[in-house]
Amino acid sequence: MLVLVTGGAGFIGSHLADLLIARGHQVIALDNLITGSEANIAHLRGNAGFSFVRADVTEKITLGKKVDAVFHLASLPSPVDYLEMPIKTMKVGSLGTLNTLGLAKSAGARFLLASTSEVYGNPLVHPQPESYWGNVNPIGPRGVYDESKRFSEALTMAYHRAHGLQTRIARIFNTYGPRMRLNDGRVVPNFVRQALLGEPLTVYDDGSRTRSFCYVSDLVEGLYRLLMSEHVGPVNLGNPCEMTVLEFARAVQAATGSRSEIRFIVPQDARTQDDPLTRQPDITLAQSVLGWQPKVGLAEGLQHTIAWFRQQLSTC
Ligand SMILES: NC(=O)c1ccc[n+]([C@@H]2O[C@H](COP(=O)([O-])OP(=O)(O)OC[C@H]3O[C@@H](n4cnc5c(N)ncnc54)[C@H](O)[C@@H]3O)[C@@H](O)[C@H]2O)c1
Repeated sequence: MLVLVTGGAGFIGSHLADLLIARGHQVIALDNLITGSEANIAHLRGNAGFSFVRADVTEKITLGKKVDAVFHLASLPSPVDYLEMPIKTMKVGSLGTLNTLGLAKSAGARFLLASTSEVYGNPLVHPQPESYWGNVNPIGPRGVYDESKRFSEALTMAYHRAHGLQTRIARIFNTYGPRMRLNDGRVVPNFVRQALLGEPLTVYDDGSRTRSFCYVSDLVEGLYRLLMSEHVGPVNLGNPCEMTVLEFARAVQAATGSRSEIRFIVPQDARTQDDPLTRQPDITLAQSVLGWQPKVGLAEGLQHTIAWFRQQLSTC
């Protein structure tokens, strides 16, 4: 297949490009590099099956080639970015998704939307199955990201119903691994960076919020299987091993061997407004439809991730 990956120079997109190339597909990574980096795909540059297009999905996309599949990952998923660029976040979820769906339709390509567990908002159902409609504040600061993905899902289903487009929707839960940015603002880079620099690990409130962390190699395997499957509706992809943020901070302390203390803080800004209190995927559907479940445990995943951040810190 010739596969387009939007957001292909980002964290997950670049790992997905690696997997696709390894499985013998040709890949066009498209990215405007607003948060992504060419360094993430530098190792693929010499590969005959790989090309990079610098473009913005919110503008008309012309590839000059007919692709067989589209993975639409372009987005601004880090809170640091969507709080700073709220309108760009909504544009990439709306215009960007419209343009990529249009491209898939004209090429007759399969289309996979990278959606998010944030469509469940601060969930009132736990763990979250795909049948749960969510609890999102549309006008809060996080609403720009959450609602852009909810709109993307609705638009994707509209293309499926109106045009018979072969669409897939992945609801991705917290994913971590090498190539995350040091200043990404998400909890994994925050804690690992702080631990490696010997700074206090800043835990919001009392650390009792829960998260479930999926290693990136597991996630991209799930995305690939979903594209190849016949399942149209949304599928949760994430690791169901739930832990509190405080437990996670302790795991990072132990894995880095850091002497950093844990400091509890109450942020006074928009970062934690409407922040979900719990987060755990119900992956029954992914198990039955895709035969997929995560394989990489937290200790192993953290080891690779910490090595990556160590290297980043030594060169900056
Ligand atoms: N990492 C996670 O834990 C997680 C969780 C849920 C959902 N997701 C989804 O997975 C996808 C990838 O996330 P990620 O963590 O790799 O993020 P990322 O920020 O590393 O990658 C996103 C990429 O999209 C690019 N991009 C943004 N706007 C663009 C535009 N207008 N045109 C072209 N490119 C644009 C960025 O430059 C970046 O390279 C996103 O759609 C995100 O919403 C990620």
